[in-house]
Formats: sequence, structure tokens, C-alpha cells
Amino acid sequence: MCGIREPNTLSNISQVKTTHLHLDWTISFEKKILSGYVVLDLITLVDNVEKVVLDSSFLDVTKASYEGKEVKFSLGERQDTFGSALTVELPTIEKAGTTFKLRVDYSTTDKCTAIQFLKPSQTEGKQNPYLFSQCEPIHARALSPCQDSPSIKLTYSAVVTSPLQVVMSALHTGVKEVGNGLKAYSFEQRTTIPSYLIAIAAGNLVGREIGPRSTVWCEPEVIDSAAWEFADTEKFISTGEQLLTPYEWGRYDLLVLPPSFPYGGMENPCLTFVTPTLLAGDKSAVDVVAHEIAHSWMGNLVTTESWEHFWLNEGWTVFIERKITGRIHGEAERQFSSIIGWKALKESVELFGADSPATRLNTDLTGIDPDDYFSSIPYEKGFNLLYHIEKVVGGPKIFEPYMKAYVENFASKTVNTEQWKTFLYDYMGKTYGQEVVDKLNTIDFELWLRGTGMPPVDPQFDTTLADACYELAHKWDTAREDKDLKQFSAKDIENFTAAQKIVFLERLTDAEPLPHHLITKMDELYHLTPIRNSDVRFRWQQVCLQTSFEPIYPEVVKFVTEQGRMKFVRPLYRLLYKAKNGAQLAKDTYLEHRDFYHPIAGQLIEKDIGLKQ
Ligand code: BES
Ligand code: ZN
Repeated sequence: MCGIREPNTLSNISQVKTTHLHLDWTISFEKKILSGYVVLDLITLVDNVEKVVLDSSFLDVTKASYEGKEVKFSLGERQDTFGSALTVELPTIEKAGTTFKLRVDYSTTDKCTAIQFLKPSQTEGKQNPYLFSQCEPIHARALSPCQDSPSIKLTYSAVVTSPLQVVMSALHTGVKEVGNGLKAYSFEQRTTIPSYLIAIAAGNLVGREIGPRSTVWCEPEVIDSAAWEFADTEKFISTGEQLLTPYEWGRYDLLVLPPSFPYGGMENPCLTFVTPTLLAGDKSAVDVVAHEIAHSWMGNLVTTESWEHFWLNEGWTVFIERKITGRIHGEAERQFSSIIGWKALKESVELFGADSPATRLNTDLTGIDPDDYFSSIPYEKGFNLLYHIEKVVGGPKIFEPYMKAYVENFASKTVNTEQWKTFLYDYMGKTYGQEVVDKLNTIDFELWLRGTGMPPVDPQFDTTLADACYELAHKWDTAREDKDLKQFSAKDIENFTAAQKIVFLERLTDAEPLPHHLITKMDELYHLTPIRNSDVRFRWQQVCLQTSFEPIYPEVVKFVTEQGRMKFVRPLYRLLYKAKNGAQLAKDTYLEHRDFYHPIAGQLIEKDIGLKQ
């Protein structure tokens, strides 16, 4: 048995493996818990297995049964963010390859990090409660005892009893009235997935078809805008299919969550979760949907073996996302979004420090909570490595067939960095011969994969769309001493796309903080404060906070309390905390709105503004 490195699970994954998991839950919105049981189908990997150790986190476990007979279990002492090992004792199973069933009865508790229960007042409609889960990276263990490692891929089924509509990351297979105003909703995920892709939401939800295999789900109040914003979904899926392999999951639905959803999007299979901040009214934020669709292959079908190779999920996904949007909107757009990505990468490297181990692609997560290492680095350094390889081996003609072969080779399996590299060399050698292998050999893989800081190669993206943004930023940067500012007018950004406004503002965040009269003038001319596109709003508030421009503070408070997407709220809280007269306001704002935030977001914001170590 060759064991794998997996520092983020407490489960005995080298002895047993889960193949299927069945969940039977009842939702109590009053008690804010899920209760019921899980049945795990397991198989032994070695001889003489005497126990199953499962991951669990803040669960109230009441009973364990092996093949229908009650057995002893014990819950180990909590190991910080990794949770508590749930050890179930078995009569010794002598032979490797033996299958068996294990049932655990339990309920979640109010400390659950995987679910946020929302009061009616926290929803759009204000009439009904709501719940949603977020399991990536290691929160599935707070939803159910399981082998919470991406190296274990399983199918799942579920029956969930609830007073409100339930949706899950699986296919709907039925619904039954069960009395008392409750219904039992059934689901099946027939393609094998890692535990972090188990997902559930329940609330006053309606669905509307937006494509041949897609329905958008959300509260009725936002269904019209959601259906409009995501109308291009099918185009993204079919472009993904052209680039890679047929879409395997049957349905691709979207769920627009309430504003506290902590991410832009989450690639839950059959049902991507997205933040309502994507509803910009102009389709300017739909690249997030292209990204989550790209995960259907990169991450969901081909899955990282452990969180130490997370870059294989996200770097590849960003690469495919940009191939998809590049096919639809042209190469200039792909280059432009890569420029935006490079800036995000720079900011992350600066935040962690250029010699921080968190800036490596292939990380060491021994004793580390993967949530603490989350940043743009796996996304953008990963993207840049793939982009560099594409260039070095001779462009898309050579690289694109390899992407497809990679998916075909690792579909339904897991992959680590070494296996990825071995396959790259094998494929290029077999398909194109020594000449291309020689080209690969010019790449310093060790430095790319295990070196810290920025990538070793400057990508030199095409700046056609960015030049106008850079020039304008330069004009403002050098106008500090000017008496009049007549050279500027509303026309300057009239024809800028949302993305160009972002690049213009990002460039300014790189410059010395601007004097306040320039900020005032800029807003007067460009009307930046009222812009609704969240990415533009975010960047503008950043520019203002960097120079402690106090008139923006109330706007920042509004933005960080009306949505809880970490990409926006964490940097804004950090900047407000550092700005003149901002520290107390940051703390007070957070403490007053603590309940609004998702538990994962809350924990990280607390670290950001010095409320917690
Ligand atoms: N899988 C991620 C979200 C995630 C990563 C959640 C790690 C928890 C732990 C998702 O696909 C993602 O990357 N979302 C991005 C959007 C994207 C366009 C970069 C986000 O949320 O901003
Ligand atoms: Zn992603």
C-alpha cells in the first residue's frame, strides 16, 4: 500500500475508503441544526482492519452501527480546526477488499462551520429563514462524519426533510409530502466526487430555466435579474466541452445565494453557488460563472489529491476559464484578465511576504488550516505556470490537445503535483518527441512549484486594452502639484469597460496615496462612488482608504455590511483598520454585524482586524 501525504484529515484513509455516502437529514430552522444519520459504504484497503476513524467537527454523535449492529464509538479531543476524530470500533475485518456499511446517527450543533442559518431578515424576501453550506476546503466534517480528504472520491445520495425547498449538489430524484407541512426531497450524485463538493441550501427558492441543461435558483425577488445576468451559461458550458471533454454531470444549475455567501462562486457539482454581487445588471461579472463551469473538469472530475496541490484545482480552472472567455470575447480579453490576475497575485505575495511558504504552489500544510493559506497565489501563479508552458512548447496547437488528454487521463481520479508533471512529460514526449521535451527542460519546475514569491518568469501580457488605463492613471499620479485639473473630464473613462475601470483603479493603488483634492475631483468627474459593479466599487474604495479619505468611510461600512464576499470584505476591513481614524470603526462595524457574516468569513475578519490571533 503506498500511502499518500494528507496532513489535513484525521481519518485512517490508508486502511479504509468510502465509496458511497447516504445522508438522511431533517432540517430544523428553529434549532438551527440538521439531524439524522449518514450511512457510509466502505471498503478495506489492507488486512485486519479494526476500526474506522472519521473526521468530524462540532457534531453531536449519538450512535454508530456496523452492518446494522450497534458498535462502540469515541470522539477524540478536538484538534483545533481539524476537528475531532470519530473512532468506530469494528469486529476485525481480515481481508483487504471487504465492503461493509457503517451508520452514524448525529446532529450538527450551533458551532457548525459548514452551514450558515439565516434569519428571515437576512434574506431578500424577509419572510422565511434560509440555510446554505460551504464545505471546501475542510468543512464537510462539520456537516457529516466522513473521510474529509479530497483523495477519497465517492458518490452520494440524500433524503432531506424540510418545510422549505431544498437544493443540493446532485440531481433531484423526487419529492414527497410527509405531513406537518414538510416535504422529503431526494437527491443522487452519480459521478464520484470529493467530500468538499457535498452542498445543500434551503429556503424560499424558485427556479427558472436558462438553458437546455440549466436552471437558475434563487429567491423570487431576484429571479428576473438572475435569469438575465446568467443567460450565457450554455455558451460557456459548450465552449468548455469543445476545449475538453463532454460535460459529465447532466445538469448545470446555478444558485444565487443571499449576500453573506463568503465566495464569488463555489463549484458544487450540478449546482454552482454564486454570490448575489454578480448581479451587476450588465453581465460584467459573469467570468465567475465561466470559472465555476471550468471546475466541472478541473477540480470536480480531476481532483487535487490533498490541499497541498490545491493549485491543480484552481490554476487549471483559471487557465480554462480564460480559454473559454478568450474563445467567446477574443484573445485581447484573455490577456486583459491575465493582467488583472497578475495584480491580484502581486498583492497576495505582498500580503504574505515574498519568502512565505504560503506563496509556494505546492505547499506544506502540516498543522496548517488550508483556509489560512487561501489567496490568489494558487490561482494566478498556477495560471502563469500553465501559460508559460503553453508558450514554451509552441502555443495552443500543441498545448490544447494536452489539456484534453490530461482530463481524459485523470477523470474521476485524484492527482498530485508530481503525477501532473510526469504526465506532462510523458504526453509531450509521446506525442511530439524529444524536441518538445527539450523545450520543457528549459523550465525550472522546481522553482515554479516549490519556490516562494512571484513567478520566475515575467509573462509580458499584451497591454492593448490596458494601455489607456495605465496612461490615465499616470496622468492622475503626476497631477499632484497641478494648480488646475482641466486636463481631466468625464470623457476620460466614458468608453471604459468595467474591467478597464478596475485596471485604472488598480494602477492607482500601486502609486503613492493620492492627495484628497484629487480624489474629490476624480469622483466629481467619473462618479465612481455610486457605481454598482462590486469589483469597481471595491477598487475605488481601496484607492480612497489608502489615502485615509474619510468621506468614503460610510460607503465602505455600507459595502462591507450589505454583502459578505471575502474577496471584498477582508481587504476593505484591513485597509479601514489601518486608515487614519479607521481602526475603531472597523472593529465596531464588525462587532455590530457579526451575525451577518458567514462563520468562516467572521473568523478570518477577526484575524484581519486584530480581534483574534
Ligand atoms: N473553489 C473556489 C472557492 C473556494 C476555494 C472556496 C477554496 C473555499 C476554499 C471557487 O471556484 C473560486 O475560486 N471562486 C472565486 C471566483 C473566481 C472567478 C476566482 C471567488 O470566490 O472569488
Ligand atoms: Zn475556483
